[in-house]
Amino acid sequence: MEQSLVLLKPDAVLRRVVGVYVLENFLEKGFGIENFLELQVSEELAEKHYAEHKDKPFFPRLKEYIMLCPVVAMVVTGSGIIQTIREMAGATMANKADAETIRGKYGIWRGINVIHASDTSESAKREIKLWRSKTPLGKSEGYENTEKYISEWTPKISIDVTPKLREACKKLSENHNLVKTIRQQIRDYLLAENPYSNKKQLTNLEDAIIQAVLET
Ligand code: RTP
Ligand code: MG
Repeated sequence: MEQSLVLLKPDAVLRRVVGVYVLENFLEKGFGIENFLELQVSEELAEKHYAEHKDKPFFPRLKEYIMLCPVVAMVVTGSGIIQTIREMAGATMANKADAETIRGKYGIWRGINVIHASDTSESAKREIKLWRSKTPLGKSEGYENTEKYISEWTPKISIDVTPKLREACKKLSENHNLVKTIRQQIRDYLLAENPYSNKKQLTNLEDAIIQAVLET
């Protein structure tokens, strides 16, 4: 059976509603979940995971983003699962991704895009080996932990603010002088969505969003 390393990135973890929607979708589709663990990515793991991008100008920001709060890491299994999840994830840039895809539905702006999924079987093997060697992911129970996560967060979440976040980002992309007002709006939306968020992590996510928009 094919395996893929899937991450719910920090935006999907802070925005619990998004993570829960993605996980419910995986279960509805009958995907196998071999491992599931919420964990903080170390600098070493971030660098090794995204090694192919180490010389790109966005690498330092990508590292900051993936470490801004814990991620949910999973090993997902199924026939043809690598391609299936890549198609479900959609294009890399969230604001350009097809509306039916995960990134199109829930991604905020450019690289702040909800999910990582292995892109080939070679990458999947490399990534699963890396994550299992650097974290306790391999010892975690997948299906039970997924169900536990969904049932823990479902009663605490209500709204999905993606359209509002997108609209605010679009306004800022058109007028960079609005940065202060838009930052406050983004914070209000994120807090309305998840009042339980860690405030420092929320500020980190705001920074990442603002930076992604200002670089548009
Ligand atoms: P991922 O590896 O996270 O599944 O995403 P991907 O294959 O769709 O995209 P990739 O090219 O591998 O890029 C990895 C992540 O880096 C961020 N990124 N930012 N120009 C930019 O600002 C930029 N380009 C890429 C995104 O978070 C992307 O998912
Ligand atoms: Mg990639």
